[in-house]
Amino acid sequence: MPYLPASTRYDDMQYRRSGRSGLHLPAISLGLWQNFGHGRPIDGQRAVIQRAFDLGITHFDLANNYGPPYGSAEENFGRILATDLAGYRDELVISSKAGYDMWPGPYGEWGSRKYLTASLDQSLRRMGLDYVDIFYSHRFDPETPLEETMGALDTAVRQGKALYAGISSYSAAQTRAAVAILRAMGTPLLITQPSYSMLNRWIEGSLLDVLGDEGVGCIVFSPLAQGVLTGKYLGGIPAGSRAESGGSLSPELLGAETLAKVRALADIAARRGQSLAQMALAWTLRDQRVTSALVGAGSVAQLEENIAALGNLEFSTTELAEIDRYATESGINLWAASSKS
Ligand SMILES: NC(=O)c1ccc[n+]([C@@H]2O[C@H](COP(=O)([O-])OP(=O)(O)OC[C@H]3O[C@@H](n4cnc5c(N)ncnc54)[C@H](OP(=O)(O)O)[C@@H]3O)[C@@H](O)[C@H]2O)c1
Repeated sequence: MPYLPASTRYDDMQYRRSGRSGLHLPAISLGLWQNFGHGRPIDGQRAVIQRAFDLGITHFDLANNYGPPYGSAEENFGRILATDLAGYRDELVISSKAGYDMWPGPYGEWGSRKYLTASLDQSLRRMGLDYVDIFYSHRFDPETPLEETMGALDTAVRQGKALYAGISSYSAAQTRAAVAILRAMGTPLLITQPSYSMLNRWIEGSLLDVLGDEGVGCIVFSPLAQGVLTGKYLGGIPAGSRAESGGSLSPELLGAETLAKVRALADIAARRGQSLAQMALAWTLRDQRVTSALVGAGSVAQLEENIAALGNLEFSTTELAEIDRYATESGINLWAASSKS
């Protein structure tokens, strides 16, 4: 049976404007970092993407190195696009990125024009697209002039290979500099993509103020701290979970102190009538400068639970104060180096 999207797909999702641009993003977007590689059955991937679109998720976030192996998430997404969503391209916002190690040699990572340009061409081929909606510099490169990296984003937009430019894991000062360079080139910075969650609050320092001042959107990644803020690790490491796979979520990040905070936060969530995952997502969206929370989901059930967070985005000042007692830095920001250089 060919896939027919739900006619109700725009009924319940909330959309927020990205900074002062014309582009709206769903309050919850879907990222394809870890659950869409060649090791996962394509039918499961397809089910999550179809359900996401049916529930109003119009934004799918990719990068050259998502998988594993690198490139495979873009390939699989391209297959699903071709079979299921080919007629709906104009309802979708698809992003990709380049910045981390992708292929051997000096032109396969960081922020040179050479790397970004070649990588975007490869991403377009893998997904079978003429253009992505947003192309990101995936991390700050301390050695390449920022003018060169931003110049490569500007060129991608001028060539029609991307509609908008984005940056990811840039500090407040780096972001301000990127905004100025891109503005002078005539390609405004649409959005930044930083890590942010109740256990990783670095963007509250000054990045959000820069974004508010400059009119740049913000899509926060790992809002569930890679699953820690679902409570799934409170009773040990479940089979099949990210922490078990030996990848980006090291069991060392699940110390007793962190788990005690998670337990206390889960109690607050229960009093709100939400799961911890739902409260964690709602909490990242409490500041209107945050355009979207970018979640990962390995199943339709996870996705549905996460989207239901939008049923209660309100927090009383008492709730926020109580959350602040436990929502403290927990040493889980794996991306801190990029925004500190
Ligand atoms: N720009 C960057 O440098 C960067 C870096 C990282 C991520 N990102 C983007 O952000 C996206 C999200 O990152 P993330 O995957 O770390 O986000 P996350 O939403 O914090 O974590 C997702 C993981 O949490 C678990 N999970 C999610 N919902 C759940 C639920 N309702 N119940 C139980 N477990 C649940 C799943 O893990 P299990 O596999 O254990 O079930 C899932 O894979 C990525 O896909 C990517 O697009 C960007």
